[in-house]
Amino acid sequence: RRILLVNGPNLNLLGTREPEIYGEETLADVEALVTRAAGDFGLEVRAVQSNHEGALIDAVHEAREDCSAIIINPGAFTHTSIALRDALAGVAMPVAEVHISNVHAREEFRHHSYISGIANCVIVGCGVQGYDLAVRRLAHLLAG
Ligand code: DQA
Repeated sequence: RRILLVNGPNLNLLGTREPEIYGEETLADVEALVTRAAGDFGLEVRAVQSNHEGALIDAVHEAREDCSAIIINPGAFTHTSIALRDALAGVAMPVAEVHISNVHAREEFRHHSYISGIANCVIVGCGVQGYDLAVRRLAHLLAG
């Protein structure tokens, strides 16, 4: 079985983007850690990153073909995108929402997520380790 890992806008800049908030690890590091963690549970990973809302929605739809669960860091679309929420709800598979930073300790506009209401779990403020925790949770849900 396979997990779809989706990273949204500006996460291609990880490692150089506001490292005091998001840390030093790159997107490639994140994709490698998720692939490694999933491998421990016999799960494969397909990783996508896009800065475009529609491309993220298309990637979520395509998960229906060959994936069993989704890890998503929707970036700023977390706080704006009903369309991405509807896509995730529409594919009817376990969803783990990850935010590297503690969005609740930041600006007010980051406190609300359109995604959390349809996510199976939400991991916030654990740095990139949050992706590893998401793999563990999804492996548990898929095994159950
Ligand atoms: C983020 C938090 C969002 O508010 C922000 O727009 C991001 C990254 C995080 O991982 O902490 O792009 O999702």
